[in-house]
Amino acid sequence: MPLKPFDIPEACHLIEGAWIRGEATIQVTNPSDGASLTTIARGGKGQIDAAVIAAQVARDGAWGKMTAAERGRVLNRIGHAVLDHIDTLAQIEALDVGKPLKQARADALALGRYMEFYGGAADKIHGETIPYLDGYTVYTLREPHGVTGHIIPWNYPMQIIGRSVGAALAMGNACVLKPAEDACLTALAFAAIAMKAGLPAGALNVVTGLGSEAGAALAAHPGVQHMSFTGSVRTGEMIQAAAAKNVIPVTLELGGKSPQLVFDDADLDRALPFLINAGIQNAGQTCSASSRILVQRSVYDEVSARMTDAYRKLRVGPAISDLDVGPLISARQKKIVTDFLERGADLPIAAQGKIATDAKGHYVQPTLFADVPPDHTLAQDEVFGPVQVLIPFDDETEALHIANGTDYGLVAGIWTGDGGRQMRLAKALKSGQVFINNYGAGGGVELPFGGIGKSGHGREKGFEALYGFSTLKTVAAWHG
Ligand code: NAI
Ligand code: MG
Repeated sequence: MPLKPFDIPEACHLIEGAWIRGEATIQVTNPSDGASLTTIARGGKGQIDAAVIAAQVARDGAWGKMTAAERGRVLNRIGHAVLDHIDTLAQIEALDVGKPLKQARADALALGRYMEFYGGAADKIHGETIPYLDGYTVYTLREPHGVTGHIIPWNYPMQIIGRSVGAALAMGNACVLKPAEDACLTALAFAAIAMKAGLPAGALNVVTGLGSEAGAALAAHPGVQHMSFTGSVRTGEMIQAAAAKNVIPVTLELGGKSPQLVFDDADLDRALPFLINAGIQNAGQTCSASSRILVQRSVYDEVSARMTDAYRKLRVGPAISDLDVGPLISARQKKIVTDFLERGADLPIAAQGKIATDAKGHYVQPTLFADVPPDHTLAQDEVFGPVQVLIPFDDETEALHIANGTDYGLVAGIWTGDGGRQMRLAKALKSGQVFINNYGAGGGVELPFGGIGKSGHGREKGFEALYGFSTLKTVAAWHG
């Protein structure tokens, strides 16, 4: 029973600070070997209704009345408590999500960092005074939306809870969190940690269950004033349509097909680990995964040979053995990825990694395709598995054209020593983030993040998220 260290009873939601047993349950299995781990509650409209009411009560009560400084102090205490439990959280995530231990530990660390960051930021977002007509004083107030809904995916549960719930709480919202059915355990553990650290009842409620049931009920709930969602484009469209009915703002982070552009003056020794890690981290199930590696023709053979060599050494196995790559989250995700690999049958495979286990998990071989035409499905569509494509280009103009030639725009990386090219491309790339001579270094708790195009809209992380999770009131006073 993985949640034992946190004293959480099995198959429960957290509503108004109490663990409420679910009427129906969902079996939780370990993606590394198929073993049963525990069960979670399968909530629906009734539990979402109760959670939204609990959040409204918290918003109007103890939580809503706290000063910004006190809220920040609570978030800091939660952050410290998360960091105290980092190894336990990592083990739970490794079992539940199949994430190799070191990577799961990095997620737990990021969750702690988000709480510290947003704890520190809570009392540092101010309104302004605006010069206006004679006899007037005008100022603005930053206020919470009220109740915020958070539907998160299974790939980085702790990080995505940190960035969305952390920022929402910092601004004084009360949250209803619906984690993904395949990855609820660290969400429940985090909620238990937060309650113990002094978060008032109802400020964070967790309802577990299926997307089509609990998720859809939360997205459509008229008592919710802001929705944040990370996941697939298809579900994102539904969330936005549901939010439109209630006329509430949404933040959508919907993944991508993020490129790294490697020019012939790049420092390849520095670039190589970034190029590969950005594709295979979390078995490629990463919204900001760099699945397209665009390489200038004059260094294409060298980059291809070095990546091929590295791919052949990649080892895939159970999360707990902490190899390079773990299993995919589910049989369903494995089918999505293997279908893509079949659609790549017409492409040259440069190299594949090795499955180094006999365990019955959802394993796929990391695969690097070479000489991929930019309009191929593998160069256009999000695979969400450990699959990267190499695409050659001749010059900067062609590189930019290919890089901007998908429906997505989340992250891009540029590898070049030419300062002018760095600046030109950073401006011209259609992307929410651009990294120059690195890719995602440091995790980026402080760095605003989000997409354009089909990658979504709105910004999370950093101070920017605090504007999204609040609303602005303008007060115009005439005093003569
Ligand atoms: P999904 O978008 O269906 O699931 C994400 C979350 O949405 C989960 O919590 C799920 O319970 C919830 N959900 C599902 N249907 C819902 C509905 N009708 N109303 C409200 N909530 C709902 O993603 P899924 O099916 O797990 O993965 C499919 C593909 O989505 C992946 O292959 C990948 O391409 C993409 N994806 C992208 C992610 C990202 O980080 N941007 C994360 C997860 C998936
Ligand atoms: Mg799971």
